[in-house]
Amino acid sequence: MEARKVYMDNNATTPLHPQVKEEMIKAMEVFGNPSSMHQFGRAARSMVIEARQSVASFIGSKPEEIVFTGSGSESSNTVLSILACPARLCDCSGLGKFSKIITTTIEHPCVLETAKCISQRDIEVKFLSVDQYGKIRMEELEEELKKGPALVSIMTANNEIGTIQDIKQIARLSHKYDSLFHTDAVQAVGKIPVDVNDLDIDLLSLSGHKVYGPKGIGALYVKKGTPFCPLIRGGHQESGRRAGTENTLGIIGFGKALQVRANEMPAEHERLLGYKKRLKDGLKNNIEDIHFNGHPQDCLANTLNVSFPGAEGESILLYLDLAGIAVSTGSACASGSLDPSHVLLSTGIPIEYAHGSIRISMGRDTTSEDIDYMIEVIPKVIQKIRKMSTVKIGGGKNE
Ligand SMILES: Cc1ncc(COP(=O)(O)O)c(C=O)c1O
Repeated sequence: MEARKVYMDNNATTPLHPQVKEEMIKAMEVFGNPSSMHQFGRAARSMVIEARQSVASFIGSKPEEIVFTGSGSESSNTVLSILACPARLCDCSGLGKFSKIITTTIEHPCVLETAKCISQRDIEVKFLSVDQYGKIRMEELEEELKKGPALVSIMTANNEIGTIQDIKQIARLSHKYDSLFHTDAVQAVGKIPVDVNDLDIDLLSLSGHKVYGPKGIGALYVKKGTPFCPLIRGGHQESGRRAGTENTLGIIGFGKALQVRANEMPAEHERLLGYKKRLKDGLKNNIEDIHFNGHPQDCLANTLNVSFPGAEGESILLYLDLAGIAVSTGSACASGSLDPSHVLLSTGIPIEYAHGSIRISMGRDTTSEDIDYMIEVIPKVIQKIRKMSTVKIGGGKNE
């Protein structure tokens, strides 16, 4: 009998949707360069046009407002780097008045690290704190905005704890103070409705592999009229906003993935909310000293971040892996590092809670039986690790 496999790491990446795979296999025959005038180029170009329409319609934008990039990380790097453009040769001349970035301490490293790097180039960066659930404080944002126009970059939903920010209110506040608003919506798009017009967003990052599409493809929404500056120069592709021959196959897969998501997302959301409640109750009833991280309501339905003080997250991950269950500790990009998650520490939880946390992220393939299996296995694993550990439940050394 094949060993049981339960994939609960969909925030790290998602498997290709079968319909996406089928579309990409067909598209492999189309090898032309979308910039070429001949029939081979035209065939590729028309598929890219179709995919652009699909991505645009999924977030309520116009196709010409979508720039395909190499990843969600590249999209956000592009946005933050606009402020550091020394030349002001492109569409970014209007950016002179923005000399500051306002972001948060819980962003993905693609925003955090870029902001830190840019702060070395005479651009002021303010990292907003968050409350115990991972929400920013509007008063703190407003205080910063009052000091002058800024580029505000705040993620829609957090990849580790799932907390969803009040994006509409943040965008409104940013615009009230003449600032630009960017959101890293890599974890939100495809899980909750995101409409750039309704939310009044200027710039938004998204990624193919989080929505059952291929890896190595991302997109950036740039609202018409927003000052812009390419990160990668040297070609007319993407209307001069991102040089380099298009990743045609990736773009086609991404377009198909969002087309399929539009049909699947609403029912899936309800199903996963039900699973999450059952999983939470099942763990709470069978494990003592347990703490759930993230906002109790404003949270992605698929994401459950939980701390088991007295058990190391890495040990939990390894024991669950032996039982066929794949989860993560912190974000995938941070794995390999034993530093506690910057997101969890920002919410103010004690360090031993941060060390003993795992992220369970469900997806379209998650079944009710998977939830039963987790409720059966996780309590046994925690009990075993806590028994072996020298750390008492609730913290403190045994000796
Ligand atoms: C919130 C968030 N932003 C950005 C990224 C990076 O996306 P990509 O892997 O496409 O670079 C991730 C991936 O984990 C993410 O969770």
